[in-house]
Amino acid sequence: MRMKKRSISCLIISFLLISLIGTVFSCSKKTKSEKTPIHINPNMDSQEKYKANSKSYFFANGSVNRMPINGVVATTELFEDSEYFYGKTEDGEFVAKAPVVFDGQTLSRGEKRFAIFCTPCHGEKGDGDGTIISETYPAPPSYYDAKVREYSDGQLFDIISKGVKNMPAYDHQIPVEDRWAIVGYVNFLQDSRPVVIDTMRVEESDSLLTK
Ligand code: HEC
Repeated sequence: MRMKKRSISCLIISFLLISLIGTVFSCSKKTKSEKTPIHINPNMDSQEKYKANSKSYFFANGSVNRMPINGVVATTELFEDSEYFYGKTEDGEFVAKAPVVFDGQTLSRGEKRFAIFCTPCHGEKGDGDGTIISETYPAPPSYYDAKVREYSDGQLFDIISKGVKNMPAYDHQIPVEDRWAIVGYVNFLQDSRPVVIDTMRVEESDSLLTK
């Protein structure tokens, strides 16, 4: 019984001693000193590592960046299809027509996404009369303006993705598939209001000019 008591107190004392030593040494990290701190338990505080894109004297190509091993296949973020991901051909030209089919399902998806992301500024039908338009926030042009009607599908996709002047970019909020669906819906809105009257006026003034 006596032995047991002694060994327990021995244990407690050694535990206290160890904690005291630990505390003293851990303090050495905070106090300023020219000497290298004694690091009993480095605990991954400092690690030997390479920083991305830095020089390497070890690897034959002189860079710490490693190439993927042969046969590796990307499962995400492989944006090779430039028409689909950027609305541009390999030569950087905007595609005239979207690389997706605008069927009923896509258009109804576009309508819903349009209602969420575009109506606050562009209005329900794209007239540029959204609810947030005010003295401090300028009205966007109507989708039925000749200039906006002339945009190719690729350009519309680009405008949604990157924004334009006062309009913010939406590439982070709207996935590629939905951006195309919105392009389809904008086309649909524009087609719903034919330009017949405008064209007649243009033709009329043209013919007047030639007379
Ligand atoms: C926060 C308000 C806002 C939202 C939301 C917004 N736009 Fe715009 N948009 C603008 C403004 C403002 C302009 C006019 C840009 C300028 O000239 O400053 C514009 C211009 C445009 C144009 C014409 C570009 C041009 O050259 O004049 C198109 C097309 C367009 N937006 C489409 C969209 C679509 C599609 C959405 C939804 C994904 C959207 N916008 C969401 C504010 C917005």
